[in-house]
Amino acid sequence: MKTVDEAADAQAFPMRGIPQPTRDQALTLPQVHLSRHPVVAHKMTRLRDKRTEPPEFYRLVRDLGALLAYEATSDLRLEPAPIETPLEPMTGGRLAGGVGIVPILRAGLGLAEGFRQPLPDASVGHLGLRRDERTLEPIEYYNQLARSSNLQVCFSVDPMLATGGSAIDALNILKRYRVPHLRYVALIGAPYGLLKLRQAHPDVPIYLAALDERLDDRGYICPGLGDAGDRQFGTL
Ligand code: PRP
Ligand code: URA
Repeated sequence: MKTVDEAADAQAFPMRGIPQPTRDQALTLPQVHLSRHPVVAHKMTRLRDKRTEPPEFYRLVRDLGALLAYEATSDLRLEPAPIETPLEPMTGGRLAGGVGIVPILRAGLGLAEGFRQPLPDASVGHLGLRRDERTLEPIEYYNQLARSSNLQVCFSVDPMLATGGSAIDALNILKRYRVPHLRYVALIGAPYGLLKLRQAHPDVPIYLAALDERLDDRGYICPGLGDAGDRQFGTL
């Protein structure tokens, strides 16, 4: 049986003693797209800097959302779209089917706003998940999703993939709603959460701006950026 001190420690440091895969191991996982874009790397560095204040932090999350949207939509299907230019008729292309975006509240809001810049017609569902900092288990507190079958793709967006609990739950919920063609997008992943997510949802492609080294004893991504929700909304 655990002593009182050990039980208190386990609550304060839920990741202590839990083995974690290395970054190199996580890099071998299938269907993981890690951005190599220099502008993404540039903005991620500003974002991580502890001197970056909430207004700039939010703008950077939004910019990174728009950049990742380009990367994560590069293989979408088009259908022929006959139009007339001012000079003559031509057949262009339009996206074959709708696009869905589901931010995981609250930190996913800035990313979703960025995604909407190149995809203004996308439908946006909202899913509220809060991580219990003692157990690291996600708790669902809000859900405004639509059952939609005519989507070509639906992006679940959240800046931080730490233990993977929130991402796994979010995708479980979206699958229960029969949302088709899911993709998961985050700014920073930890090898531990990436492996868990890959195992739980092997069919869902994952897009990341960066893959970090490890989780600390409290389940924070290192080097990371701290608390993505607090830094966006100034609730530090
Ligand atoms: C953060 C983050 C993810 C989750 C990641 O949200 O935005 O949703 O933690 O951790 P996990 O991979 O271990 O589940 P948080 O619960 O802090 O809520 P917030 O968005 O309201 O700040
Ligand atoms: N949630 C955050 O906001 N940051 C982390 O490092 C882990 C979870």
